Amino acid sequence: MNSASYGSPPPATQKPSLLVCVTGASGSIYGVRFLEAALPHFDPIYAVFSARGREVMQHELGVDPGTGGNAVVKLLGEKAAHVKAFSPRTMNAPFASGSAVCDATVVIPCSMGTLSRIAAGVSDDLVTRAADVVLKERRKLILVPRETPLSTLHLRNMLALSEMGVTLMPASPPYYHRPESVEDLVKMVVDRVLVQAGVKPGDAYRWGSDPTEEIE
Ligand SMILES: Cc1cc2nc3c(=O)[nH]c(=O)nc-3n(C[C@H](O)[C@H](O)[C@H](O)COP(=O)(O)O)c2cc1C
Repeated sequence: MNSASYGSPPPATQKPSLLVCVTGASGSIYGVRFLEAALPHFDPIYAVFSARGREVMQHELGVDPGTGGNAVVKLLGEKAAHVKAFSPRTMNAPFASGSAVCDATVVIPCSMGTLSRIAAGVSDDLVTRAADVVLKERRKLILVPRETPLSTLHLRNMLALSEMGVTLMPASPPYYHRPESVEDLVKMVVDRVLVQAGVKPGDAYRWGSDPTEEIE
């Protein structure tokens, strides 16, 4: 039997890896803009669009990325060529196993259905299996839920996830940067999620950093 080799050097790539899951909550634009903003910062990037996520995106943005490997290229063009998409029905993806390391996993937007399945450990598709893996490996999981009002069950599930170390970032943009468009609101949420995923976006608004703004 050959002896195993240990301690080989890390691969040359220096960028962290990222998985982005887009599910069927309203706010598909958050998922698309987050993927776009993440492109220069992560490599590899993986993506999964749930069936309902695709339906809602079709309704809200008029585009269906499909489930093929180039789904994100369909949304964002060739600049997203390094993003590999997977069908939610397959388990043949690196991040379906803890043996493959994904530095951050973001579900944006995250439906209450997906959130509750993750909280309950129901890993019956690639989105929930990926989240289950992140939880067991104690890695970074960020959920961006969108629902209102919240039921007691939603709140219980969110508390359970928070206690497991999950970062919950409701798609709830602030207004102190004086947004002038929907895109301004979306960007504020996306930038905050990027920071949680380990990136400092250079052009993100930061309270107190504009010397022309004065509030007494
Ligand atoms: C137009 C539309 C908007 C929806 N918005 C939300 C929402 O904001 N939040 C939510 O939790 N579910 C929302 N849903 C319901 C989810 O799509 C539904 O629960 C679905 O089963 C979630 O599946 P998924 O988590 O696998 O994507 C919406 C559905 C539709 C058709």
